[in-house]
Amino acid sequence: MEQLSSYLCRYKNYNFAVGVTTAEYIDSLQSFEIRDSDVFLVTYPKSGTIWTQRIITCLYDLEEERAEERAEEPNTLERMPWLEYREGRSDYALRPSPRLFASHLTPALMPPGLKDKKAKIIYVMRNPKDTLVSYYHFCCAWAQLETPSCFQDFMEQFLAGNVGAESWFDHIREWHSKRDQYNILFLSYEDMILDLKTAVTKICRFLGKNLDKGAVEQVVEKSTFKNMKQDPKANYKFLPSEIMKGDFMRKGKIGDWKNMFTVAQSERFDQIFQQRMMDTPVRFIWDSTGTS
Ligand code: A3P
Repeated sequence: MEQLSSYLCRYKNYNFAVGVTTAEYIDSLQSFEIRDSDVFLVTYPKSGTIWTQRIITCLYDLEEERAEERAEEPNTLERMPWLEYREGRSDYALRPSPRLFASHLTPALMPPGLKDKKAKIIYVMRNPKDTLVSYYHFCCAWAQLETPSCFQDFMEQFLAGNVGAESWFDHIREWHSKRDQYNILFLSYEDMILDLKTAVTKICRFLGKNLDKGAVEQVVEKSTFKNMKQDPKANYKFLPSEIMKGDFMRKGKIGDWKNMFTVAQSERFDQIFQQRMMDTPVRFIWDSTGTS
């Protein structure tokens, strides 16, 4: 891995936080055996990962099978761990099915077996201005990433793709342009905010689960911002305070970028967004009135 700074290292066009994984392990994913029942949640950082992790794990928690075993898994992170960071967990090949994984990786780094289109991928995206603001606050709180000197500086790093993961633009474009190679459902953070029940129902159908209305309501209830924030299994407060000094469940809103961006920053961002995304059909909702 090529060291980019004291916090980031680069491997195969992807920026990893220093010391959290190895090139050998990332390479080993090329021969990672995929099972038909595997489910992967893929996101760019700060796009609603822990929220969707919560929804998916709740949907699987409703199944009777392995209920006892699952009760021993203390939180959504252990239920749905990161593919790229094994962090002392036992070999993923030993996990019972159905295996649930989260990942920020790019298509090139993911196990090629996903292209057999049997295992499922849920890709959640969020408008990049809110993603950037959420990422900025996250970097101020997460010990393994560099604390930005100011928002302007972080915005430049984000636009240049010099942050953890890669460029937001590339992540969306790569996953979206390769969508036909995978069994993949695209969702947006904003759609989830505007109509959580419909989003949960979509996820439920995609996962082939036939839940009645009451069960869907139950999952919706457990996944609201308010309820997740209070739930120690879901709110990520279980992470050691020396690693996370802030809150994963920060604001949970559409349009918080308006509180951070100056008019000039917003215009510059819009211009770059137009240049980089104009040839993709992906559309975003930028404020809580649902304006796209
Ligand atoms: P904010 O920082 O804008 O509040 P990730 O899980 O990918 O790191 O994304 C974190 C973002 O998702 C945070 O955004 C967090 O508040 C938001 N989030 C998490 N759970 C949510 C929920 N139930 N409803 C709305 N937003 C949620």
